[in-house]
Amino acid sequence: TIGYFNGEFISVEQLVIPIDERGHQFGDGVYEVIRVYDGKFFMLEEHIERLFKSAQAIRLQGDQSIEEIRQLIHEAVEKSGLADCDVYIQITRGVATRKHLFPDVPVSVSMTIRPMKPTSDTVREKGMKAIFHEDERWANCYIKSLNLLPNILAKQTAQDAGCYEAILVKDGFVTEGTSSNVYIVSDKTIYTTPLSKHILAGITRMAVKELANGLGVPFVEKQFTTEELMQADEVFITSTTNEVMPIVNVDGKNIKDGSAGEMTLKLNAKLMELVK
Ligand code: PDD
Repeated sequence: TIGYFNGEFISVEQLVIPIDERGHQFGDGVYEVIRVYDGKFFMLEEHIERLFKSAQAIRLQGDQSIEEIRQLIHEAVEKSGLADCDVYIQITRGVATRKHLFPDVPVSVSMTIRPMKPTSDTVREKGMKAIFHEDERWANCYIKSLNLLPNILAKQTAQDAGCYEAILVKDGFVTEGTSSNVYIVSDKTIYTTPLSKHILAGITRMAVKELANGLGVPFVEKQFTTEELMQADEVFITSTTNEVMPIVNVDGKNIKDGSAGEMTLKLNAKLMELVK
């Protein structure tokens, strides 16, 4: 597995980040996870654009242009020799003696390129269980920031309950998952939380919206409650690493008969056609 830090490509095992790196001490940075299928990036431009948007939102201004970051990502994947992989890239406010104020130093860019672990068809066709969990995050979840403490606490709580994902809930309404967007299907219509500062504008969400349009399936961006989710015909989540994943049980109760939804699996099949 190959890693990158500020100009140097090195194996992940050997890569060491300086103690005063702002990502390490403050979580003062932003990141992206990008998937490569058979040597082809999935929606790379959209990911880079979101990375720069996130950086701008936290007033992080690097010297690197979009073109340079794109080049760097391509170079890293080439060096890894991997055809199917996940790119993790993060940009932080650099290396400087620990002080809260912005330091006057170059930003840090780091990356890892790891082999993709595809989800088996049998696992996907069975679907995943989830829990509801209070959304305890901050007011700017549209920024893909390194500060993931509420996300990891909720995800661990899900795992401790024998579940895969925590569906986050704010004032009775579903926002998103700890690292995914959430959807319900009712009466052959897909509903998902509208974009706002409270959720991440998922790249897979963007793809699914287009796929739904192509299939002539209404795609409605509207808030829904936990009760509406429990009564839905289907529930699914999306993310770069999960693609379209059925949720068949929440808080120990089945969604309909507890099997993966037809629309859900169709959307995943369509997504897989895009990456082939
Ligand atoms: N997570 N919402 C949150 C909070 C996320 O962290 C993610 C992605 C998504 C889905 O976004 P996309 O479709 O662009 O991957 C939604 C990444 C994969 C992660 O943190 O590992």
